[in-house]
Amino acid sequence: MSDKKYDIGLVGAGVMGQNLALNMIDRGFSVAVYDLAASQTDKFLAKDEAKSKGDALTGAYSLEELASKLSTPRKVLMMVTAKDPVPALENALYPDRAPVDAVLDALLPHLEPGDVAIDGGNTHFKDTERRVKFLAERGIRFVGSGVSGGEEGARKGPSLMPGGDPEAWPLVQPIFQAISAKVGPNNDVPCCDWIGNGGAGHYVKMVHNGVEYGDMQLIGDAYWILKNAVGATNEELAEIFGQWNREELDSYLIEITRDIFTVVDPQTKNGLVDVILDAAGAKGTGKWMSQHALDLGVPSSLVTEAVYARSISSLKAERLAASRVLSGPTNVRYSGDRAEFINQVKQALYASKICSYAQGFAQLRAVAKEFGWTLDLGRIALLWRGGCIIRAVFLERIKEAFDENPNLENLLLAPYFKAAVENAQTAWRNVVKTAVELGIPAPGFATALTYFDAYRSERLPANLIQAQRDYFGAHTYKRVDDETGAAHHTDWIAEKK
Ligand code: 6PG
Repeated sequence: MSDKKYDIGLVGAGVMGQNLALNMIDRGFSVAVYDLAASQTDKFLAKDEAKSKGDALTGAYSLEELASKLSTPRKVLMMVTAKDPVPALENALYPDRAPVDAVLDALLPHLEPGDVAIDGGNTHFKDTERRVKFLAERGIRFVGSGVSGGEEGARKGPSLMPGGDPEAWPLVQPIFQAISAKVGPNNDVPCCDWIGNGGAGHYVKMVHNGVEYGDMQLIGDAYWILKNAVGATNEELAEIFGQWNREELDSYLIEITRDIFTVVDPQTKNGLVDVILDAAGAKGTGKWMSQHALDLGVPSSLVTEAVYARSISSLKAERLAASRVLSGPTNVRYSGDRAEFINQVKQALYASKICSYAQGFAQLRAVAKEFGWTLDLGRIALLWRGGCIIRAVFLERIKEAFDENPNLENLLLAPYFKAAVENAQTAWRNVVKTAVELGIPAPGFATALTYFDAYRSERLPANLIQAQRDYFGAHTYKRVDDETGAAHHTDWIAEKK
């Protein structure tokens, strides 16, 4: 048996694990791979591409063997998902716990103080916080890293968002920054940087995913309005999204949307998109972002609305029944200038997208304050510039906005975005108005516009809510003319006329 020591161990030989391993080897690192199912490891090692990597790649058939094959301090990256069959795991102390805990339980006896364990899954940041603490007490440095970009990103260069025990970063940095996507004028700025302590990396990944939900819903709104209000065909939609992808909306999600409209279903010869059931799934990261926005008291209404839009979509049977009972406007076509309206939809999408990112970054600002994390928002925008699902030219503008003003409270206040939203505003309002008039749901566009209008309002009707709260519950209120901020109370029943 060779006593060669490998640079990093990978637990989980699914597609993401395989592609990350191959990517690491291409960048000059050697990798030992372990999977719960030995057959999965063998299947990977038998592939031509794996074989071509020679002795830079090896398999391990137990976590003990994996640990014994690694150079010290060991680095073990776990790419296990919530779906992994935990009970079969060797030596699991708590077989019914989350797969990551089960792997850690089994791995721990084979690690030494100073070793690094990394979780590259979509894990809730609170679990990561817990694990960082638990393992630090045992001398193990734990990293929770966001990994974005899907299978292709993992192979060619993902966006990586590591956080956790800061002592781990110098050990992980050379590998992570080498395998990540690169951006910048010389294509040398890695889409990977240390995010912060505890669960900061997984938090930023969660917000990435929430923003992804928002982007997808907004694109869905645009699609639905174009299809229904102007009767755009799939060919036209491919052309429209193709054109948008050459302008300020240039992004991965717009690009794949264009491609989707070109794919024909081999069975029916219709557009494939038209035979897909309109019930959206979700694995939970969007919901987590929304839940934590509520905990923080920050208005991340775009992600929340996007989660709700997926929920209502999955009430397919109920919607089908309701569609036969509840009626809406009979005219569902836009009567104005078609080309002009298509352009207005683009502007509505762009302005709404700006609001969505403004909310995402505002949530990051708020959580940094809450947990004492130092989040470099401009750098985070750059990490998302390449490799990940929300990669877009637009993120360059966000980076510039935070470079100009690192204390920027809200992206809408940055000169570039203020001007962009102002330019789009008339079109945006017309699109939302038209959707409302024609009875076409456009939850993303409408929510974004409501957020914009509320955020730019000096006064809101919350004075009345405060009066009501004080009336029925003596919850008190503050007065506009009392700068001390003192609590006031009125006996409303005695005062009423
Ligand atoms: C990524 C993606 C990925 C996520 C999917 C599915 O960054 O590569 O965000 O991590 O798992 O997008 O998410 P939903 O099933 O919740 O839509």
